[in-house]
Amino acid sequence: MIKINLAGCGSFVKESDYKNYLSKALDAFDVLDAESGAGNDFLGWKTLPVDTPESLIKDCEAVRDDWKSQGVDLAVVIGIGGSYLGARCAIEALSHQFVPRKDAIRVVFAGNNLSEDYLAELMDLVYQKNAACVVISKSGTTTEPAVAFRVVKAYLEQRYGKKGAASRIVAITDAHKGALKTLSTQEGYRTFVVPDNVGGRFSVLTPVGLLPIVLAGFDVRAMLKGAADERAELIKKGEGNAAVQYAAMRNLIYSKLGKKVEVLVSYNPKFQYLGEWWKQLYGESEGKDGKGIFPASVNFTTDLHSMGQFIQDGDRTVFETVVGVEKAHRSVVIGSDDQNLDQLNYLSGQHVEHCNAMAALGTKLAHIDGGVPQIDLSVESIDEYNLGALFYFFEFACGISAYILGVNPFNQPGVEAYKKNMFALLRKPGYEAQTEEILKRI
Ligand code: PA5
Repeated sequence: MIKINLAGCGSFVKESDYKNYLSKALDAFDVLDAESGAGNDFLGWKTLPVDTPESLIKDCEAVRDDWKSQGVDLAVVIGIGGSYLGARCAIEALSHQFVPRKDAIRVVFAGNNLSEDYLAELMDLVYQKNAACVVISKSGTTTEPAVAFRVVKAYLEQRYGKKGAASRIVAITDAHKGALKTLSTQEGYRTFVVPDNVGGRFSVLTPVGLLPIVLAGFDVRAMLKGAADERAELIKKGEGNAAVQYAAMRNLIYSKLGKKVEVLVSYNPKFQYLGEWWKQLYGESEGKDGKGIFPASVNFTTDLHSMGQFIQDGDRTVFETVVGVEKAHRSVVIGSDDQNLDQLNYLSGQHVEHCNAMAALGTKLAHIDGGVPQIDLSVESIDEYNLGALFYFFEFACGISAYILGVNPFNQPGVEAYKKNMFALLRKPGYEAQTEEILKRI
């Protein structure tokens, strides 16, 4: 379960202000619970951990087993934003960082940028492998994944023929509408559905996240169980509810202390993509109507040697939320050295993780002294179960937090602006008037 410790905020906030924000958070909890707030047609994520049928997991496993029987050793997962970050977060956290698994399909991601070099280099790998593809787009029309899919699809069709390619392509999209749905029906691709009532950034526990995670060889049943157990805790209303406390404290720090930037901190590189996933979840859900906490992320101790300076000493607009991990899976003990030239013998016999924990504690004290409040969250270890709990915790807290802020957590009107300009510049049919306008500006 996710534990929360707010002691690192104690010297910054008044108890009475915290009580006030707890009461706002409890009101927001009621809105989320009663499904009476803005965007309430996008609350399907709330029950995914307990609603997901065993048959859906079996369908994901059937794709994995079928592809393995065809000798597939590479799955290109195409998607952007909420259609890729959850899967990437889980797979990066759960995978060995250096040695690929022999018993699983390697998963790589495409369609999350428009870099020609990225796509060309990815295709260099595809040419060498026995590849298949999962294309994920709820709308079915997002430019980045559509471009990547065109390239991958054309290659698979050229190498395996149309029918052979169709057996290597799975689409995850809307149940009824959109270009990807139409194409899938036409070409006979296997499809999975992104539920209508689940937005992209809340979709990690739908097939959007589950299928790539299954392909990569991880246990989504344990992930759903972790999310379900976390849900069981979080649906209990009360001042001890960790999501209520997190939402209350971050809004208090933002509104009363004027700290506009929340940095998600981890001390384990496996959590780099947890930061990316979390930034989308909070940035897209809260950053609207001229409001919102700017979500940033760092990996310590790595970034203590770069961003550490700013956090300690720069513009005092930052607070931190640290996601701690109680137990390392592996053990590396520091040895002793006769010469002791590096003067590390005082650490001999210590685990590296002990040094990490002391670095975290020392950093906490230094940052608090430097004016940076710290919220501490922690999980027992990095595994499927705890990742499921983290996903659910952050989603649930996000709903509460956005309602405290007074915004609709489940829309994203702001992401359309760049697309209009890009389409005009790419001379997409229908955008002729905007093209003329925009050319005058550049
Ligand atoms: O959270 C969201 O809704 C967005 O980030 C989308 O997931 C992202 O834009 C991809 O959209 P789509 O799945 O329609 O291609």
